[in-house]
Amino acid sequence: MPDGGRSAELGWPELRRIPHPPYRIPVLGDILGASQRTPLLSTMKYAGLGPIFRCKVFRKEFVFVWGAELAADIADETRFGKHIGLGIASLRAVGGDALFTAYDHEPNWRLAHDVLTPGFSREAMAVYHPMMLDATDRLTAHWDRELAAGGPVDVLGDMTKLTLEIIARTGFGHDFGLFELDRPHPFVTAMIGTLTYAQYLNSTPFPGLAKGAARRNEADIAYLNRTVDDIVRARRDAGGGNGDLLDRMLDTPHPETGERLSAENVRRQILTFLAAGYDTTSGTLSFALHYLSANPEIAARAREEVDRVWGDTAVPAYDQVAKLRYVRKVVDETLRLWPTAPVLMREARQDTALCGEHPMRRGAWALLLTPLLHRDPGVWGADAERFDPGRFDAAAVRARPAHTYKPFGTGARACIARQFALHEAMLVLGLLLRRYELRPDPGYRLSVAERMTLIPEGLRIRLDRRQTPPVPTRTTVPDEDMPESRCPVHPTDG
Ligand code: HEM
Repeated sequence: MPDGGRSAELGWPELRRIPHPPYRIPVLGDILGASQRTPLLSTMKYAGLGPIFRCKVFRKEFVFVWGAELAADIADETRFGKHIGLGIASLRAVGGDALFTAYDHEPNWRLAHDVLTPGFSREAMAVYHPMMLDATDRLTAHWDRELAAGGPVDVLGDMTKLTLEIIARTGFGHDFGLFELDRPHPFVTAMIGTLTYAQYLNSTPFPGLAKGAARRNEADIAYLNRTVDDIVRARRDAGGGNGDLLDRMLDTPHPETGERLSAENVRRQILTFLAAGYDTTSGTLSFALHYLSANPEIAARAREEVDRVWGDTAVPAYDQVAKLRYVRKVVDETLRLWPTAPVLMREARQDTALCGEHPMRRGAWALLLTPLLHRDPGVWGADAERFDPGRFDAAAVRARPAHTYKPFGTGARACIARQFALHEAMLVLGLLLRRYELRPDPGYRLSVAERMTLIPEGLRIRLDRRQTPPVPTRTTVPDEDMPESRCPVHPTDG
């Protein structure tokens, strides 16, 4: 059975043939070049070793693959599946056998997958659309105030609030009121705390030593569980909601077996969706806003499309979002350079040989580094570092080999919410481009950090309100009408 931290020496009989960085130190391994802050990104510098390489951290050896050919082979679902290891294994304390952290063989994965997939159908998405609009109104009201105050906006902080509001409203009918709080919501603090702790467990050989951090993590998990239990109780007391994911989790039987998710599993699914649903999308939106502010000609083209497609409709309809073809390419290109979930862990289902060359025993595993796969010069050209949405023109996409672009994962365990995330990102970018001119903040240089996902740390940009064409307004709430907190479960939290 899979074990999260197993060293590659056990599963790769010809490991010696795979190159590793020079200057390996006995016992410590390759830690000289490793960074605790960006453990995955710091391995990208070893791309020069070739499309497959290995790194040793203390006693454990890890195999990394990134070349297009190897990526295509390891995506073969008949021979490989998802590996639950490192950060994902650490998250099992929160997620258990819920979708993201389940082992392939756990029955609750199939049950939840079948019950929840229709929660991302076109019909379901059309119900979420007005909730996404409503949450984005909160953001623009906040940005209008920031703009009036004359400063840059805290892009990552505000996108984090926005995407958490969106997943909480669309998934569970919950309103955290994050834009109306003047300090971090304890739920966000606890969530970031557990993700950071899981990341820390990834990169430390002696997790047992950080007793204080372990205690804080337990307290964070207890707080997250209490919040979710309150949400479920409120829903049950209300006798149901509007057909969102929570209703589906509580009431929908499996279409064939009639089985339902247990109360414990529902709690884990809610936390999973909250965790998986906000950081990935907030990072994506933030990176996209960085590139749009740094590339005025790309922003102008995207804005022209929004004006043309949405015209003077005050509120874009659900169907008008997918028509933003160029904005979609901006999102695709953003996820090429910075796939916010940057690693896919793949495990051999049987004894096999990767690309026919590297024997692997059943259970052996490797990390597929998508930021490197998405920069493979053989696929993306010598200028792969350049931000160019034209790479996603239909002809260019058709010309590329399969399995060279994997921001949403691969196979049965790929992102269940891909359409949700794309709709959300395109809608939000469309609304922001329509309302504001975006300018880079002169003092800011892109700095990418990892907190399980990739984030543009400290990203700020400057805004100007657009004058022409007049931007239709929606239900912007005036300052004095802002409630203290709109969180119905924790009205005084914060
Ligand atoms: C741009 C935004 C997003 C990106 C880049 C992204 C990326 C990914 C990736 C790469 C995986 C596969 C991970 C693996 O193989 O270990 C995944 C799985 C998953 N994602 Fe997303 N995701 C995004 C948004 C979302 C949202 C908004 C939600 C929830 C509403 C969500 C929920 C999930 C879940 C539940 C899984 C596990 C699926 C399974 O194993 O059955 N994701 N995502």
